[in-house]
Amino acid sequence: MVTNTWLEIADINELQNTSRIKKRISDDLEVLIIKIGNSIFCVENRCSHDEKPLYDGNIYEQEKIIECAYHGARFDLETGKALRMPAVTPINIFKTKIENNKIYILLT
Ligand code: FES
Repeated sequence: MVTNTWLEIADINELQNTSRIKKRISDDLEVLIIKIGNSIFCVENRCSHDEKPLYDGNIYEQEKIIECAYHGARFDLETGKALRMPAVTPINIFKTKIENNKIYILLT
């Protein structure tokens, strides 16, 4: 996979009627794009506790937190930091930008 490059991943209109979409980047990487207000976050769609998808988790918009639907671990959407057990390690996050209504993520 190419690194240190911005990858166009979605059109902003895909988040018009939903606050989250998932996109497969490669065989072993799927990401979750989350819209909160005018901000776009991108995290790997994999919980660091037991590798379950985060897609179905609750999102706490004000705190910018996602809660895993499986065992309740919580993660900071801005830093990836694990905030609640049973997770202790962060999830992978990706910087995002929007240009010409396209959402890009930075692969590092
Ligand atoms: S798989 Fe997410 S908390 Fe267990």
